[in-house]
Amino acid sequence: MKLSELLQREPVNIPRLVRERVRKLGVEEIVRAVNKALRGLDDVVLDTLSGLMIGRPVALVGTVGLGKSTLAKVIAETLALSDPPYVMVACHSHMTAVDLTGDIDIAVALQTGLDHPLAYIPGPLVTAHGSALILDEINRLNPYAQAALLQAIQEHYVYVRGFRIRTDFALIATANPSEYEGVYELSEALADRFKFVEVKLPDREILRSVLIWKAKEYLGDLEAEIPPRLVDMLVKFTYEAERAGYPQSVRSLSYALADAVARAWSQHRSAGVRDLKLALAANLPHTSEVKNVLVNLFEKAAVSA
Ligand SMILES: Nc1ncnc2c1ncn2[C@@H]1O[C@H](COP(=O)(O)OP(=O)(O)OP(=O)(O)O)[C@@H](O)[C@H]1O
Ligand SMILES: [Mg+2]
Repeated sequence: MKLSELLQREPVNIPRLVRERVRKLGVEEIVRAVNKALRGLDDVVLDTLSGLMIGRPVALVGTVGLGKSTLAKVIAETLALSDPPYVMVACHSHMTAVDLTGDIDIAVALQTGLDHPLAYIPGPLVTAHGSALILDEINRLNPYAQAALLQAIQEHYVYVRGFRIRTDFALIATANPSEYEGVYELSEALADRFKFVEVKLPDREILRSVLIWKAKEYLGDLEAEIPPRLVDMLVKFTYEAERAGYPQSVRSLSYALADAVARAWSQHRSAGVRDLKLALAANLPHTSEVKNVLVNLFEKAAVSA
């Protein structure tokens, strides 16, 4: 894309585009598409769509491994506002404003002119024009990068060394709760421009089916039985752990279950409580101190399940 063309870019009415897509597909179809990848998040889908339909950036907030990034991608893919359907950024604390906007290389520009493809390499805030922009883990952005984002959201323009480039996108962000390590608070001005949608653990029954579904997926062609009793224990443990202040990741739980089953299979037997206990200790990403607490919680859940 030449800089001179970018400077001429027309605005795109993104909320209208989103409404058109939702009207055409029907919300049920979008929910169905999401359910192929994630279950138990139907309300989150509706909350996200309603925000995007009125031009409000949406932040999906939740603890690790609850499907936030997947959800953002599936919604963007289903809405398919453009082809490709979205631009995704894995945000981190060393990201600069220029990483988001792109920058002009003065040396190249002087030698070859501003329209040379290497004179200006656009950043994601610019390439997402007319599309969906997914900012994964947005609260890892430092305040400087947040400022560039704020400008793009509020003015619909990105400024690159004095050049003003139009940009309109449907913004879906993901974030961990603010008590997480290594995250920044969003500036008040930026936070004021978001709708925050909480992503939670699915209900017990749905969680149960998700764990079986995902564990089967990970086990692939291994014809090993997933003992229902173990799944019950795992669900019980997950809720008890959450109540004790240790929210668990659906991803890690599913892997722990599959791991226990695969380990037992390799010894020609079906998985038992001990396999699951070992698999949980190895698959749940925690410090050894927390791990002990979790293993204790699991033992209690195993007895009472
Ligand atoms: N409700 C759910 N239904 C089905 N699968 C789920 C659900 N929640 C999580 N998963 C599984 O867990 C995996 C993790 O999802 P994802 O990476 O989207 O989570 P996340 O919330 O973005 O996690 P992180 O905070 O680690 O980035 C997915 O690949 C998916 O298979
Ligand atoms: Mg994620």
